[in-house]
Amino acid sequence: MSQLPGNLIIDNGDGDEPMSNPSSNRHFEDVLKANLSRRSALRGGLGASITALFGGVGLTGCAATTGGSGGKLIGFEAVSVSSADTVVVPKGYKVQSFIPWGTPISGNMPAFDPMKNTGADQANQVGSHHDGMHFFPIEGKDPYSGSSTEGLLVLNHEYVEPRYMHASAVGQKLDRNGVPALVNGKRPADECRKEINGHGVSVVHIRKGGNGQWSVVPGKFNRRITGATPMEFSGPVRGTDFVKTLHSPDGTRTRGTLNNCAHGVTPWNTYMMAEENWAGYFINKVSANGRTREQSRYGVRSNDSKPAASRYGWELADTGTDEFSRFDVTAKGASPTQDYRNEANGFGWMVEVDPFNPGSTPVKRTALGRFAHEGVVFQPGIEGKPVVCYSGDDATNEYIYKFVSKGVYQKSRGVANGALLDEGTLYVARFNDDGSGAWLPLVFGQGPLTPFRFSSQADVLINTRLAADTVGATRMDRPEWGTIDPRNGQVYFTLTNNSGRTETNKANPREKSRWGHIIRWTEGGNDPASTRFNWDIFLLAGPENDSQFAGKPLNKDQIFNSPDGLWFDKEGRLWIQTDTSENAMNKGDYAQFGNNQMLCADPRTNELKRFLVGPVGQEITGVITTPDGRTMFVNVQHPGATTSADDFAAGKMTGTWPNMGPYGRSATIVITKDDGGVIGT
Ligand code: FEO
Ligand code: CA
Ligand code: CA
Repeated sequence: MSQLPGNLIIDNGDGDEPMSNPSSNRHFEDVLKANLSRRSALRGGLGASITALFGGVGLTGCAATTGGSGGKLIGFEAVSVSSADTVVVPKGYKVQSFIPWGTPISGNMPAFDPMKNTGADQANQVGSHHDGMHFFPIEGKDPYSGSSTEGLLVLNHEYVEPRYMHASAVGQKLDRNGVPALVNGKRPADECRKEINGHGVSVVHIRKGGNGQWSVVPGKFNRRITGATPMEFSGPVRGTDFVKTLHSPDGTRTRGTLNNCAHGVTPWNTYMMAEENWAGYFINKVSANGRTREQSRYGVRSNDSKPAASRYGWELADTGTDEFSRFDVTAKGASPTQDYRNEANGFGWMVEVDPFNPGSTPVKRTALGRFAHEGVVFQPGIEGKPVVCYSGDDATNEYIYKFVSKGVYQKSRGVANGALLDEGTLYVARFNDDGSGAWLPLVFGQGPLTPFRFSSQADVLINTRLAADTVGATRMDRPEWGTIDPRNGQVYFTLTNNSGRTETNKANPREKSRWGHIIRWTEGGNDPASTRFNWDIFLLAGPENDSQFAGKPLNKDQIFNSPDGLWFDKEGRLWIQTDTSENAMNKGDYAQFGNNQMLCADPRTNELKRFLVGPVGQEITGVITTPDGRTMFVNVQHPGATTSADDFAAGKMTGTWPNMGPYGRSATIVITKDDGGVIGT
């Protein structure tokens, strides 16, 4: 990426955090290789071992043995790969684009005009870069049952592309990460405010009309949560020294949520937003070695970063007010309550909000740990049992975590709420060579988490990655979304790729983890709270000559790379979404995959077909259906992002989908079947 004088250009590519895991814990690829070779020895050859490991008789023995309804889940005709600037769906399906970035939903309902809209306008409009999403039926009782024609669509806005947001950007050489040239070393404050308000979450009341089209219903439910919305901490970190700031001297509050990637839905009908690549939004103006351990282990920027500024340079806003200066986490005052040295400690959490209570304050649930949370997936709530959820840390060589509540879920007695997430045990996964696994507790005072290394449970949670290093967790290839098979309780997680290995060995891409894979496990005794599990590989993504699914390579209707979004619908279809990076898509040997896409699998029959391909430059992320399965919502994030800095300056965009303005605009798409049937059939 070229360095432009006067401009800020991020150096990690799209905000992905740099590899910052210095531990020597075994890497997942090493375990996978060891597993393969062990099975080779047992079964007399690599071919046999691959069949055993990836075929119907996996290590857990679950894939081929589920009984049940017997109905065919997948009925559509696969679509081909595509590099066109349009959304492709199977014959018999149609697509409506919906609530693109800038759609007015609240307040004075400001019409979208990127050249004129202010920061305040953006706070009343749908945010940018749509990501994780849920449809809450309007009854507000259960996240998966109720109306299929009216509800609250709640969606994350992961980040922004400043070049699309400001009149000042027109004609400048800006790539997708650039911000307009600084003026006397500063940024206009309202541009920063607009970018902050482009982040966060939208709660959008929507309804299906008689004509089958969905539209926004104005009213009290519509809400924007942004990078500036007041929030509270709960759990062990609340009130501790780690989160005391000038804004919150008692360490109970902070402002905003950032880089909300995927999401979670609790059994008690609330929404959780994940804070993923938040570290780059902050800078400590010291040398890299001068940062605190929590800052360095997570990649908060320093004077040694290139450039020495935060991702968007909000700390450079020309008003100098603490709305913006808080992103500079340099220790400046006499104590932490006189500056923002602890501001970054307020990020990296899972944040809960009740979408049906628009006046409620979102809560950062610290017991679930602090890392680059991709999202969170909950086991179904079972009366009298603990609440269990899983979350991946999406950075190179990071870990997969599980939380088990101390209290039990008792809906019948009114004990089914977010307080269950404030006390419990956070575990991290170790994947053993023999297909077994262990959940290792991250509890202060237990095992190696001694007072020599940590001062309290709050310290363990602030430094979740360090605690996980210490107990010997397995380093993974960027854990992304997780989902749970409704038919047998198996947990599936995507491992998107390992960028640390991408360029060196195309001949042996599996070891380089260029294409990514999907892992799954069964908890010991089918008890979600178990500390043991058995795992196998569901699928190795990649091209026809370097992939594996059910003992066979993927065919032309199945090839994909970089699995990211993942969701089981209630009938057991597994929806897989891809996020090939903008640096790679439609280039070199990634060209064969076309634009980012979504596939549908039936793990019982081992069918897999490509269902959808998105437009140019985007990723497909976020998927949910109405309870009847007949309307599907999917997000198209960063269309046209592959436009180069030179082409942007010249006004030549690679993609302009959904063709509602001069630039591409992230948007939701609504997918229906012409015959009104269930999506996927
Ligand atoms: Fe925001 Fe890991 O994708
Ligand atoms: Ca993602
Ligand atoms: Ca992404």
